[in-house]
Amino acid sequence: VQGPVTVTVTGAAGQIGYALLFRIASGHLLGPDVPVKLRLLEITPALKAAEGTAMELADCAFPLLQSVDISDDPRVAFDGANVALLVGARPRTKGMERGDLLEANGGIFKPQGEAINAVAADDIKVLVVGNPANTNALIAQAHAPDVPAERFTAMTRLDHNRAISQLASKLDVPVTAIKKLTIWGNHSATQYPDLYHAEVNGKVAAEQVDEAWLRDTFIPTVAKRGAAIIEARGASSAASAANAAIDHVYSWVNGTPEGDWTSAAIPSDGSYGVPEGLISSFPVTAKDGKFQIVQGLEIDAFSRERIDASVQELAEERDAVRGLGLI
Ligand code: NAI
Repeated sequence: VQGPVTVTVTGAAGQIGYALLFRIASGHLLGPDVPVKLRLLEITPALKAAEGTAMELADCAFPLLQSVDISDDPRVAFDGANVALLVGARPRTKGMERGDLLEANGGIFKPQGEAINAVAADDIKVLVVGNPANTNALIAQAHAPDVPAERFTAMTRLDHNRAISQLASKLDVPVTAIKKLTIWGNHSATQYPDLYHAEVNGKVAAEQVDEAWLRDTFIPTVAKRGAAIIEARGASSAASAANAAIDHVYSWVNGTPEGDWTSAAIPSDGSYGVPEGLISSFPVTAKDGKFQIVQGLEIDAFSRERIDASVQELAEERDAVRGLGLI
């Protein structure tokens, strides 16, 4: 990557935005030698807060940061974007039905998809962080017919990192001892963190832990970690979510290391029985700026059931947004 690279961040004045922008500007998103131009998209009432963040970015005098522009118009904010981090979303509020949530997010991700289609750079890469991330990515993708479908991805890297950390702590090994971990399915409580293909110092992870821990402690701890953070912190994960977004894009652009893979929600090509087109988390490698689904893994009956349940949820979300005319 040579740069400068134009990076658009939506929801820039939010919690994750605050944790994310400084790491992008200091070279962690793309690499230590790649100049960056930042574009911040916010809703009109949050523009002033975004300006405050831009003032702080200026005060860091980051050598790689060439410019910061702020707008409340997607057609301006995505103009020439090479990377788009879609963080701003409509959270579920009390008493809100799933249909209302999907509809509210459709109102955000449809115009953003249209704007990306109209004005982003030809090599645009999109990561959706804002929840429900997989389905929001599907909505944006549906409104960007001129952009190759595989450029729309959603974030399960935080779940991936959480799973590595939980396993490392259980086995008292460094996180670097763990390879080939996979999050399958939806970024939701149905996600399936898979230890049957993961390795700890080269040995199958599932064989290093007892089955009851794997099924009754590990899986729910990873899947419900977001709720546990809210309970403890009084606010949802922000720095760890920003860190995962950095990891996702860094891997996508710079590739994954030999002998390992990572997790990302990308459009299914039908692999592992996941219906084509669903944006589902898979084991993926990245090379030359492209994600590829790791092929040929054997899926045992337990994993099959878990993957199918999460994919079923994704299919239901897709059908719901289709029913609302959002895709
Ligand atoms: P936040 O509420 O602090 O910030 C969201 C920001 O988005 C606000 O500043 C808001 O003004 C802005 N926004 C809303 N609509 C917008 C639009 N149409 N265009 C541009 N900006 C818009 O929320 P936070 O904590 O930063 O989280 C953001 C999203 O990330 C939430 O949906 C959250 O659920 C999700 N998330 C996803 C994770 C994942 O692993 N995929 C992990 C953690 C959070």
